[in-house]
Amino acid sequence: VLVDLDRDLPLPLSVQLATQLSDAIRRGSLREGATLPASRTLALQLGVSRGVVTAAYSQLSTQGYLVMQQRSVPRVAALPSTAPSTEREEAAPTPLVDFTMLSPDLGLVPRRDWRRVLEHAIRVSPAQVLDYGDPRGQLELREALVDFLGRTRGVVSSPSRVIVCQGSLQSLDIACQLLASRGAARVALEDPCAAEIRTAVRRAGLRPVQIPVDAEGIRVDLLAAEAPDAALLTPAHQFPTGSVLSERRRADLVDWLVRTGAQLVEDDYDAEFRYGTPAVPTLQEKAPDRVMYAGSASKTFAPGLRLGWLVVPESAADAAGRIKWSLDGGSPGLEQVAFARLVTSGAFERHLLRARVEYRKRREALEAALAGALPRTRVEGGTGGLHLTLRLDRPVDIGALDAAASRQRVRVQAVESFLHEPAKRAERLVLGFARLHPSSSAHAAASLATVLQLAGGA
Ligand SMILES: Cc1ncc(COP(=O)(O)O)c(C=O)c1O
Repeated sequence: VLVDLDRDLPLPLSVQLATQLSDAIRRGSLREGATLPASRTLALQLGVSRGVVTAAYSQLSTQGYLVMQQRSVPRVAALPSTAPSTEREEAAPTPLVDFTMLSPDLGLVPRRDWRRVLEHAIRVSPAQVLDYGDPRGQLELREALVDFLGRTRGVVSSPSRVIVCQGSLQSLDIACQLLASRGAARVALEDPCAAEIRTAVRRAGLRPVQIPVDAEGIRVDLLAAEAPDAALLTPAHQFPTGSVLSERRRADLVDWLVRTGAQLVEDDYDAEFRYGTPAVPTLQEKAPDRVMYAGSASKTFAPGLRLGWLVVPESAADAAGRIKWSLDGGSPGLEQVAFARLVTSGAFERHLLRARVEYRKRREALEAALAGALPRTRVEGGTGGLHLTLRLDRPVDIGALDAAASRQRVRVQAVESFLHEPAKRAERLVLGFARLHPSSSAHAAASLATVLQLAGGA
């Protein structure tokens, strides 16, 4: 393998190696299926420690460039069709540090367990699992989810009220269509929020009403004053600010729901990961007839599964099934049976335990590195999920931030770019840490400090 490591660069050798290999894969000089030397061999060739090579390989596997299997050498993976391949896109080099990755580390997916439950599903499932079925999903999975969500999130439900969806984005689409079919017109949203949420609301013909968020979560007083028909919120870990809805506001919100008959869509997209802080209870538990609860395997397992769930009040269950049918005729059956087995066998919760330990380490390593490289910044919000929010000591121009980041091959997003009317200045950054190995966090934080300095903010 032609690589050229420069010991004088202030860049860890593993990062240099990973970058050069990913550039070669993207250029096509290392093609799909090509094998790379075993880590020991390459380390000898390059005159570096084996740890340098294994760290680079593990980063490339996490990013989807390499397939790593036990007892065999790494192979170049098939690049997804969205991966840059045209000449124009090739001009944008692979980022050295990517804080915009908010998805889990795919290297942590327990493939052996997953293979076991997929095989089990194929072996034991009756033929009907291959047929059109109840559009709400396979009964095994809906039963498993009722138990799992009741046990871990206090969600009050029954199998008839659960709709298995293609990720929580589809759950939110279905929830919005349900709201529209029940006569809702105006839906309160957190501002800032994920763009996909505004899109889901508009797609259903509903009008978004923007409500500001502060350190205690959404301003429930302003929400109530707007008197919308419904609200769509991320109360346990507001995206992207990281705020956790305070107890006082939770009580006010439940009071508002009960008093006005309004509906709430609770997007609980990353609640399974909390690091040393107690789980935040759901609002669904407090008002199961007023709340539609959306969850997903995208943060806990793999977003590519496109597996999510929506728990609706009993009165909306049939209508929700009809909407799901009209969207796609129901989610694929075999994967549902497999995932049900993963949950009921305990393998899913074992995976969650392992992943939680790993992500906690990564978050703590990043926090420590940020405290060292950017001592005047402050981490804000709840300690959960796969991202943290960093408050800068002074605002930076978002255009200057983007330009400096691209020069340094860093990808990073400002909280303020998620506002309904995006601000010109960034006061906070959203930093995804799930794919940032602790050995890279010092380099990542130092790169961010350089970017901020170049952008005129630190
Ligand atoms: C606020 C929010 N909701 C939901 C999701 C998950 O979407 P899905 O489950 O469709 O992958 C995300 C993903 O990043 C998110 O940020």
